[in-house]
Amino acid sequence: MITNTTPPLRHLMNPLDFTTDELEQLFRTADQIRSDMPGFAHRMDGRILATCFYEPSTRTRLSFETAMLRLGGKVIGFADESSSSATKGESVADTIRVISCFADICAMRHPKEGAPMVAASRARIPVINAGDGGHHHPTQTLTDLLTIRSLHGGLSGFTIGLCGDLKFGRTVHSLIHALVRYPDIRFILISPPELRVPDYITEMLRAGNIPFREEIRLEDALPELDFLYMTRVQKERFFNEEDYVRLRNYYILDEPKMGLARPDMYVLHPLPRVNEISVEVDDDPRAAYFEQVQYGLYVRMALILTLLDETDAHINHGLLRSY
Ligand code: NCD
Repeated sequence: MITNTTPPLRHLMNPLDFTTDELEQLFRTADQIRSDMPGFAHRMDGRILATCFYEPSTRTRLSFETAMLRLGGKVIGFADESSSSATKGESVADTIRVISCFADICAMRHPKEGAPMVAASRARIPVINAGDGGHHHPTQTLTDLLTIRSLHGGLSGFTIGLCGDLKFGRTVHSLIHALVRYPDIRFILISPPELRVPDYITEMLRAGNIPFREEIRLEDALPELDFLYMTRVQKERFFNEEDYVRLRNYYILDEPKMGLARPDMYVLHPLPRVNEISVEVDDDPRAAYFEQVQYGLYVRMALILTLLDETDAHINHGLLRSY
């Protein structure tokens, strides 16, 4: 039967698409996966994930693919725009209709803000935004939240410094949006003046009476932090090479600077790292960025399970129809 109705599907476009209670449920599932990975090895037997990546990625795409494989499912997709029909002029809306005939769930990354949202509006399967331009990166945020929750024992009562390219860094934008829903969190936004966080974010913080301040020097924030979230300067979003070259090494976290930080501070980074954390810091017990990658796998497994379980519930209630 052919239908044009939009099915009541659950997508993930923005970190706020889940309530904090739903996130807690997701994190509990991730905790269970962490303590018993083999117990989940067949939960997605026979299901297919499509990864549609119109922009380069290593860890996000491989993390999604590994998540589905570790759940017993299979993976199809493309890793860059040049190997998709976008080069022939196909729209994202058409691509997702086609993918909906093949796969059960799709993770999409796109350089244009809002493209995964367009896909979700046309999809017959759940769509996960795997990063849209400088806008959002909700699964990195789930990763960051799960990491903080595990290392700190909860998602309240800490000071976080976000450092680097706060203008173009979508992981920063998504993380701030997500963290403002939890109590007793202070933000220190550390960036060169040219790469300050967009005004709509500082306005949101002011409107919510959320304690924050902006700093230029990392040294001025370090002693106060429970978490330092480092980011790279987003080369691909600069309009000219000169500005990038001038700003790319603005911050370099090294061991002397780590000496200013508390002994129980954690360093996070969404990766890839360029020069902003020198490799000597990797051996510091406070460096948590590779552990963070591991949490990203658990949380993506939990997300795939959650979204597909909800889809199954709709199918069982006759709410979804196929062609
Ligand atoms: C981030 C991204 O793609 O925005 N990477 C990632 O998904 N782990 C951060 C970045 O590219 O700097």
